[in-house]
Amino acid sequence: MPTEKQIDLSPLFQPLTIRGMTLRNRFILPAMQRKWCTDGRPEPHLVEYYRRIAAGGTALITTEALMVDHPSATQVPHYGWLTEQTKDGWRECVEAVAAEGASFMPQVFHEGAIRKEGGDGPLAAYPTLSPSGLAAPGTPAGRAATIDEVRDIRDAFIGSALLAEEIGAAGVEVHACHGYLLDQFLWKGTNRRQDEYGGEDIRDRLRIHREIVEGIRAAVSDDFVISFRFSQWKEIDYGAKNFETPEELQTLVSIMEEAGVDLLHPSNRRFWLPEWPDLDPELSITGWTKRFSRVPVAAVGSVGLDTDVMDNLRGAEAHNAGLPSFAEMLRRFERGDFDLIAVGRGQIGDPNWVRKAAEGAITEIRPFTRADLRTHDPSESRVLKLAAGARD
Ligand SMILES: Cc1cc2nc3c(=O)[nH]c(=O)nc-3n(C[C@H](O)[C@H](O)[C@H](O)COP(=O)(O)O)c2cc1C
Repeated sequence: MPTEKQIDLSPLFQPLTIRGMTLRNRFILPAMQRKWCTDGRPEPHLVEYYRRIAAGGTALITTEALMVDHPSATQVPHYGWLTEQTKDGWRECVEAVAAEGASFMPQVFHEGAIRKEGGDGPLAAYPTLSPSGLAAPGTPAGRAATIDEVRDIRDAFIGSALLAEEIGAAGVEVHACHGYLLDQFLWKGTNRRQDEYGGEDIRDRLRIHREIVEGIRAAVSDDFVISFRFSQWKEIDYGAKNFETPEELQTLVSIMEEAGVDLLHPSNRRFWLPEWPDLDPELSITGWTKRFSRVPVAAVGSVGLDTDVMDNLRGAEAHNAGLPSFAEMLRRFERGDFDLIAVGRGQIGDPNWVRKAAEGAITEIRPFTRADLRTHDPSESRVLKLAAGARD
């Protein structure tokens, strides 16, 4: 068992520059929905939450997934939206975080087939749209978007990046993970389209992502960073795979790099799990991504905790995993598996998580607990209802 003194985390406290964004260390806050928005704008305690985590030492704050400006994006009342009407609220977050020395990056998002249909909310009349009207194979939801609707949604993603730049954010993160719209395009199980936005070849299912990133790159300044977050797993199916083989992952990496991505963020529930154990007993999806990529790669998943995010959201309590988790993070960083590491629930539990890690005070980190996830209405998660059967 290592002691605190045996773990020298200083390699993780070296700065990193990506285009115009200089990060003071390698720790980031990943996107996490808090449902602390009204009319798409951050409530004052959301601004304060970001500020406190920035003050606690983290280098980059990613917002919770903010809706792109399209009426089919969501019907969840307390989600954030990044639009002309809400942008000043998000500018406050940029400024609060900058005052504490951290960078800020909105994550932009559309729920696709996971969106609630009907009801009596202000957007109830709009359809729920997705590649093929499927939330999962055999789980119909809403309808397939027409090609014009696909292009409108693509343009809404591009527009949201422009708004992010306008409010002074260092970049934008395109959300293409966890079973939501852009992941539904990537996954064969939910993309059965016969037109140019679908197909057997992963290159065809990646067309909308490529067009979004190319569109953003063409519209923003050279300094602006584009992050791309993707995953194998979906909240409604942990075992699903977008990439059957490393070659398919390599295809994504090279297409997205060519399109103009500056940071790749494969989302993992446990950062140490090998992705293709028969091919490599250790390499996680992050390590594989790094092996193929020229741009920096971010890791994520249960750093410092003994319970993964979905088990936790479904009811299991999380506890600090102690020093071995930090030792494993450091070992993988030093062998070159990733450039940045996201600590989600850990930083909700203790906004000073990064500062305590820097000071070698790991055992003083306040443990995250489920009670820290208070929202306006925790019972309204549609995805948890759809996902009731998902298991490893
Ligand atoms: C309450 C909550 C909300 C989340 N919302 C998002 C989200 O909006 N976008 C996203 O990409 N991931 C989201 N995630 C996943 C996190 O970004 C992260 O990948 C996950 O929590 C694993 O990191 P951790 O083990 O350090 O918490 C969410 C996680 C939590 C706990």
